[in-house]
Amino acid sequence: MINIKKTYTEYWNNFSEKPKNFIGTSVFLKKLKKSLNKFLGFKISIRVNKNKPQKDEAYVSYPIEKVIKKHRSSLIVNEIYSFLELSNLKYNKSEVEGYVDEFDYVFGKSPIKEHESGFGYNEGVFFYTLLKIINPEIVIVSGVMKGFTTYLIDAATHNDCKIFIYDINFENNMFNSKKATYVNIDITNKIPLIKKKTVALWDDHTSQMDRLKFLQKYHIQYNFFDDDLSFLNIHSDGWPPIPTISALQDIKKGRLAPKH
Ligand SMILES: C[S@@+](CC[C@H](N)C(=O)[O-])C[C@H]1O[C@@H](n2cnc3c(N)ncnc32)[C@H](O)[C@@H]1O
Repeated sequence: MINIKKTYTEYWNNFSEKPKNFIGTSVFLKKLKKSLNKFLGFKISIRVNKNKPQKDEAYVSYPIEKVIKKHRSSLIVNEIYSFLELSNLKYNKSEVEGYVDEFDYVFGKSPIKEHESGFGYNEGVFFYTLLKIINPEIVIVSGVMKGFTTYLIDAATHNDCKIFIYDINFENNMFNSKKATYVNIDITNKIPLIKKKTVALWDDHTSQMDRLKFLQKYHIQYNFFDDDLSFLNIHSDGWPPIPTISALQDIKKGRLAPKH
């Protein structure tokens, strides 16, 4: 077992106890925060929620000031706008801002608070907002794990939306949606109902090229691919869905083409 050394400084606390010889830190911290607040013109603090195991840091240590959250939301909204400008989707700017704010609340209420191997805040806010804009009749998910993405789909879609959840292993699933049908085999063995406004989330670490062929064959209109890694970062995933869309694009454009 690896023994992780716990550290504590005036800037960093990896949830260890304050060392006994750490005299004067709180006074120093208070002074530092006071001058920073004065300099920035708004309050800065981080809420640290101790003694809550099995939670990602996003739920344990997070910014609380409205001004910081507002600034973060406006940056997220801009990112989403730049994506939307390249799409054919119709959207209303103030609605997008509302969805991004709404997501922050939805994220905080998530029944899954440990996101290892799954979507985190940033993928979540993007996916949630786009689902709200598309307002689908059907959502297909291939790769559910603990169910965080199911939770987001359940929260973002209207009551009549039908969700088809595929996984070859439901043992880790912690969230069940009343709108969902659960299918314990690969999607190629049982084709779901597909309508005009169907969204598919491909997060099953299975060849994205095969999934691309599948969605073309069955005319799935809106598709989200997670883990779409290029050759440059393909090593960052233990089980990348190769060939990924980005790798296929790299090859098509003659970038990083494998030598024969
Ligand atoms: C990265 S996790 C999904 C995370 C989830 N979408 C989230 O963000 O909360 C990958 C999941 O894909 C599943 N999986 C692997 N092969 C699959 C296949 N052929 N069809 C469907 N699911 C598969 C695994 O069992 C695992 O639960």
